[in-house]
Amino acid sequence: MWGGRFAEGPAAVMREINASIPFDKRLWRQDVAGSKAHVAMLGRQGIVSAEDAATIAAGLDLVAADYEANGVHEDLALEDIHMQTEARLADAIGPVAGRLHTARSRNDQVATDFKLWVRDAIDQVIAALAGFQAALLTRAAEHADTVMPGFTHLQSAQPVTLGHHLMAYHEMIARDRSRFADARGRMNRSPLGSAALAGTGFPIDRAMTAAALGFDGPTRNSLDGVSDRDFAIDYLASATQCALHLSRLAEEFVLWASQPFGFVSLSDQWSTGSSIMPQKRNPDAAELVRGHAGRIMGCMTALMVTMKGLPLAYSKDMQDDKPPVFEAHDLLALSIAAMTGMVESATFRADRMRAAAEAGFSTATDLADWLVREAGLPFREAHHVTGRTVKLAEERGVALDALPLGDLQAIDARIDARVYDVLSVDASVASRTSFGGTAPVNVRAAIAAAREES
Ligand code: ARG
Repeated sequence: MWGGRFAEGPAAVMREINASIPFDKRLWRQDVAGSKAHVAMLGRQGIVSAEDAATIAAGLDLVAADYEANGVHEDLALEDIHMQTEARLADAIGPVAGRLHTARSRNDQVATDFKLWVRDAIDQVIAALAGFQAALLTRAAEHADTVMPGFTHLQSAQPVTLGHHLMAYHEMIARDRSRFADARGRMNRSPLGSAALAGTGFPIDRAMTAAALGFDGPTRNSLDGVSDRDFAIDYLASATQCALHLSRLAEEFVLWASQPFGFVSLSDQWSTGSSIMPQKRNPDAAELVRGHAGRIMGCMTALMVTMKGLPLAYSKDMQDDKPPVFEAHDLLALSIAAMTGMVESATFRADRMRAAAEAGFSTATDLADWLVREAGLPFREAHHVTGRTVKLAEERGVALDALPLGDLQAIDARIDARVYDVLSVDASVASRTSFGGTAPVNVRAAIAAAREES
């Protein structure tokens, strides 16, 4: 394609280091779509004849059908998907294929193809996240009243409801979706027609190709159009944040599925056995979602470091933009699907959660609050009285609400029988009705609001 000024071909290693076809063949649909938009515009503008434009467009359809049926051949000599497609086009329609690359460069071509790919990837992720949210909503609705220990420092803190806990993830995923949507809106301008870096003297119509490819319009600066990859980094940053969220739920599933917790039993479909320990049901998928977050973050870092300090405009370093995006996307898609499946099919052990919530003196704050509210103690003093009460319950090995009134009154005479109304975990969660709090009535309202929005 560029052999005119060269007497010798490239060294074998040069060919290998230079080639991107092993990975960018994944862009073939976008490459064909971009070329079809380009040639339609060339024909409309009279830059190539209407007849040649029609021949090229039909030829591109043949190439696409061949790719679809037989896959893209990895010919290193043809370097990348753009040269591959042009070569296949020449096979199909002869020398007229050479007119396709008029008023275009691989630099604007690859930027366009890659944007189209990332845009599709965003649409897929947003749809998958909507499915994950639906699974969270279903399980949260089932467990709006299920009490469990809420943790800080992974110590039992205050009882919460499982529904509230799952809805916390629903919120995180809502923000993830909006991050992806923002990235999509920001990136949706077409680089096609920026040419190599400076634009072109041909009378092209960039608005036409932009519209044909579903962009909001053309990029406004040709140097920027061919050389920025911030759209890919936006995708990776959104993917990383989303993966971090998924990894936290994955970690909770790993913990909860362990015997000491026993809060959840993963379905057979989402567990693996051990080759030596027959009793094992390992949460491998959750562990891998946790692990994949690290790799996705690595992909983001890789592209950021590649782009750092690159002078304008295109440099070949930028060919390395694609593997980390492809890798991150595949890992994220798998992670979302796996978490969705796990959430849908998990058995939550309400009995174990309740027992753990009751065992951890998690209603101690409720006692302190009651002493403030009903007995008029300053909070600091109430905290102290409660501490002594917890110590006594711990010594006896019973829950707070199992201590007899006489013992409570021996600690502080201002306590009366009404205190038992707040010492149970159910009373505790039911009382947390502040906006965004864990009370079952709030959880049901949050679920209803989320269903309304989706
Ligand atoms: N395969 C190249 C890439 O992915 C296409 C652009 C090549 N441009 C060039 N000036 N050599 O970046």
